[in-house]
Amino acid sequence: MTYQEFIRQKERLAEETGKEESAVVLLLEHILKIETNVLYQRLFLPMEEKVIEEFDVIFNKYLYENKPIQYLIGTSCFYGYDFIVNENVLIPRYETEELVEHILYKYDAYFKGQKVDVCDIATGSGCIAISLALEEKNMNVIATDISEEALEVAKQNNAKFQAGVTFLQGDMLEPLRDRKFDIVVSNPPYIPLTEEVMALVKDNEPNIALYGGEDGLKFYRIILSGIKPYLKKKALIAFEHGFDKKEELQEICRRYFPDSFVETLKDLEGKDRMTFVYVGDFDE
Ligand SMILES: C[S@@+](CC[C@H](N)C(=O)[O-])C[C@H]1O[C@@H](n2cnc3c(N)ncnc32)[C@H](O)[C@@H]1O
Repeated sequence: MTYQEFIRQKERLAEETGKEESAVVLLLEHILKIETNVLYQRLFLPMEEKVIEEFDVIFNKYLYENKPIQYLIGTSCFYGYDFIVNENVLIPRYETEELVEHILYKYDAYFKGQKVDVCDIATGSGCIAISLALEEKNMNVIATDISEEALEVAKQNNAKFQAGVTFLQGDMLEPLRDRKFDIVVSNPPYIPLTEEVMALVKDNEPNIALYGGEDGLKFYRIILSGIKPYLKKKALIAFEHGFDKKEELQEICRRYFPDSFVETLKDLEGKDRMTFVYVGDFDE
């Protein structure tokens, strides 16, 4: 059987069991330790028995044991970087890559060339903090999380990419002490407590990374009500949030920052996903 035939067969199996077809190529790349373009050069070559065996052990866990492929292979690609992940961190999502991209645009528009202090609250795997630090050398990035286990993974990623991010452990704003930031970003847990969550997520990803109180907005209230002392005179706050929370979140932003411009942007699926607060004078 060629690689192409094997991939087609396994993708069909994934589809029939309601799983992601993309897991097949991801897993093959992981086993062979090669990139997609190299895999495609092998499409008409015969599959090696050893590869098939190794593939099937992991793939069966994916198909029949309700495990995310990213945890099984131990990495997840975010902003072009292969982040280490395990059961202690949320698997980075595509929408969050868009948040990173928008922050980089806004840095260029409002802070270009300046050294800026950035804080990523609730960093998980460190995907936001580390991508920002790698993409923009003028960003001095600090990242926090309440979970020691998550920070362990974030620190491994920081070492893997030599990103130079500083990590602090603690509850929301508590570890920030007397620091001040130009940019504060957070993708906090934001699923409302009563919302149905698919089994693959609920049974595998850390609950502490998922739920954001009764209405999913608990952590935005904590951040927005207390963040002022940690902001420089001109500062940008950037959030990812649930697609149906634009109005409620904007209202909380305006309650604590009545004089600031508040902007919500859609993700690539057309859903309201990111809200920004421009604190201080952005016309300077
Ligand atoms: C939705 S995950 C986001 C992780 C990462 N920023 C990302 O975008 O993939 C939320 C993170 O918030 C952390 N967290 C939960 N409660 C917290 C708290 N009270 N203070 C700080 N971090 C908290 C969790 O440990 C988890 O890593």
